[in-house]
Amino acid sequence: MLERDIMQRLTREICDMAAMDLNGRGLLPPGFRYRAGTVRDLDAIMNIGLACFDSDEPERHKVRHFLSDAHAVIGVLCEGERIIGYAHLEAHMGRKNIYLNTTALLPAYRGRGLGDTLYILTEDIARAVKASSIWCHVHIKDPLAIHLLKKHGYVIERTEDPYYDDGQGAYVMRKSMQ
Ligand SMILES: CC(C)(COP(=O)(O)OP(=O)(O)OC[C@H]1O[C@@H](n2cnc3c(N)ncnc32)[C@H](O)[C@@H]1OP(=O)(O)O)[C@@H](O)C(=O)NCCC(=O)NCCS
Repeated sequence: MLERDIMQRLTREICDMAAMDLNGRGLLPPGFRYRAGTVRDLDAIMNIGLACFDSDEPERHKVRHFLSDAHAVIGVLCEGERIIGYAHLEAHMGRKNIYLNTTALLPAYRGRGLGDTLYILTEDIARAVKASSIWCHVHIKDPLAIHLLKKHGYVIERTEDPYYDDGQGAYVMRKSMQ
C-alpha cells in the first residue's frame, strides 16, 4: 500500500510547496526562484539537457510524460522567467524511495552554489513524500557531482559498469531519509 502511496504523493503540488519554502529561505540570489515544471516547460528542459550531457541526453517523450504528473516531478530553477536548471525526481512502483533522475544547470550558472540548492530541493521533496531514501546514478568520472552528492549525505552503494551510452560506468549513490 505504501508503495502505491509514494507514487500518488509525488505531485506537482508537493513540488510547488517545497519550491516556495526554499524560495523563502534566502538561499537563492535575488531574481532566482524555484517552481514545479509543467508540460509548457518541455522545450526549456530539453535545451538544458542538451547543453549539459554529451551522451544519454533526456528523451523528449519521456520528459513530457514525467511533466504530466506521472509519479514524477521536475523542479525548475528560474532566473526571472527563464529556466536555467532543474531537478527531476521519480517514484517507482513497488518502491518506498525516490529516484533522482537528473540535476542540471546551464553551464553559465555553475560554480556559485546553485547546484547545492537542486539537492536541497530534492531532499525537501523526498521528506515531504516520506521517502525512505533518495538514490541516483552518477557517472564515475564526474567528480563534481560525486562531491556534491557526498556533501549532501549520499553514499556510494554499488557500481554499474557499463551503464551509460558511452560505455562508462555509474555509481549508484543513496541518501537514507530515515
Ligand atoms: C552538477 C551541477 C548541477 C552542479 O552545479 P554547480 O553550480 O556547479 O554546483 P555548486 O556551485 O553548487 O557546487 C560546486 C561544488 O563542487 C565543487 N567542485 C567544483 N569543481 C569541482 C571538481 N572538478 N571536482 C570536485 N569538486 C568540484 C565546488 O568546490 C563546490 O563544492 P563546495 O560547495 O564543497 O565548495 C552542474 O555542474 C551540472 O549541471 N553539471 C552537468 C550535469 C550533471 O552532471 N548533473 C549531475 C548528474 S545528473
